[in-house]
Amino acid sequence: MLPQEAYQWQYVEGKMRHLASRWGYREVRTPVFEHTELFLRGVGDTTDIVQKEMYTFKDKGDRSITLKPEGTAGAVRSFIEGRMYADVLPCKMYYLNAPIFRYENPQAGRLREHHQFGMECFGGKDPTVEAELIEALLTLLKELGLENLSVHINSIGCPTCRAAYHKALREYLGGRLGEMCSTCQERFEKNPLRILDCKEEKCKKITAEAPSILDYLCDECRQHFERLQKLLEARKVPYKVDPRIVRGLDYYTKTVFEIIMQSGREGLALCGGGRYDGLVEQLGGPATPAAGFGIGLERILMELRSQGKLPEEPSVIDVYNAALTDEDRTLAFSLTEDMRLAGIKADCDHAERSLKGQFKYAGKLARYTVICGGDELERGNVRLRDMQTRQEEEVPLGEIIRRIGSLIGQKPTTEETVKG
Ligand code: HAM
Repeated sequence: MLPQEAYQWQYVEGKMRHLASRWGYREVRTPVFEHTELFLRGVGDTTDIVQKEMYTFKDKGDRSITLKPEGTAGAVRSFIEGRMYADVLPCKMYYLNAPIFRYENPQAGRLREHHQFGMECFGGKDPTVEAELIEALLTLLKELGLENLSVHINSIGCPTCRAAYHKALREYLGGRLGEMCSTCQERFEKNPLRILDCKEEKCKKITAEAPSILDYLCDECRQHFERLQKLLEARKVPYKVDPRIVRGLDYYTKTVFEIIMQSGREGLALCGGGRYDGLVEQLGGPATPAAGFGIGLERILMELRSQGKLPEEPSVIDVYNAALTDEDRTLAFSLTEDMRLAGIKADCDHAERSLKGQFKYAGKLARYTVICGGDELERGNVRLRDMQTRQEEEVPLGEIIRRIGSLIGQKPTTEETVKG
């Protein structure tokens, strides 16, 4: 990612941080790699991520380590190791720009290294948690200017009701298993729910009329799902119940959700998440209900780019201080440093360029140019040039920092306000 693209990332990240703080989430930063065991136990050893997509290798101490293939397991480990369960709950954390590695077939929007923003809430069993996560996501996407979004929700129940559903699904699919792809055949025994996620036409046809998990939910899971829908309705959040949203990670219980661009490519959700009430305990912590989501920064940026919703790159610097002659270079340099100390983005020549060369450079990066030297300097002044309107004016050297400050909208300090 080159500097001229980085501002787009900073723009999106700024919106994310602002959003997370309004919802009461604090940042967590977890390592890029973890013990492989964490993901085997957390993400699930029947998932595509674990079976096919992890970057796993041995370190010099012969330990198996894996580059983070998703953000939740690391957040859970930090929650347990940091004994955050002993603090006030719910404990709300977000991660931003976390690098995630998956050995997938690279294509637009599907990368081997991508970055996620995620929000995870530990210790809240109420569906208000999922409702606030979904509304936070929608708010973020709307504040970024993205439209035509659809929220798909589903419940995949708890281990008890899912077992009954798996049985029904196996009975339904059993007779036609031979017609299905090899991945579905593998999933049939270990994790039949994932068969519903298969993108192969022949498998999709067979599962089209399969029983729905929603008909097998136990009372608690059903009531939880109904209450979530009531909350979304109370907040006027449009949603679609979609029993085919099953997600690609094993830790989910009850609610799962995805946000999809209506114009988007099939299989490319903008973001996804859900509840994972069993994961903290499964990874060695006390039983703690939890829910969260992850959203890919590259996918958001791709969408913003294609919808023309990214802001223009701001000027790299406010002021370029040009030196008329070699004798003026020390003044230009010193003025630059003083401006920086005063909070102005400033630069000067570092390549012994002629005045023409300095102007060319300034024209690309700066909003204003200050020319140090000549008759103006003899009068104790410098020349200030607006690079957009090309207008020029002479400003006393002692005033130039304050003048630039007011041009770029800097607020005067309290002392100046009192004086002024
Ligand atoms: P996930 O659906 O696997 O969920 O990924 C979340 C988001 O990351 C996707 O919706 C997408 O925007 C982005 N993403 C995933 N894979 C790629 C890729 N190869 N290239 C580019 N972007 C990608 C999780 O990872 C869960 N940990 C989310 C979660 C958090 N659930 C609960 N808490």
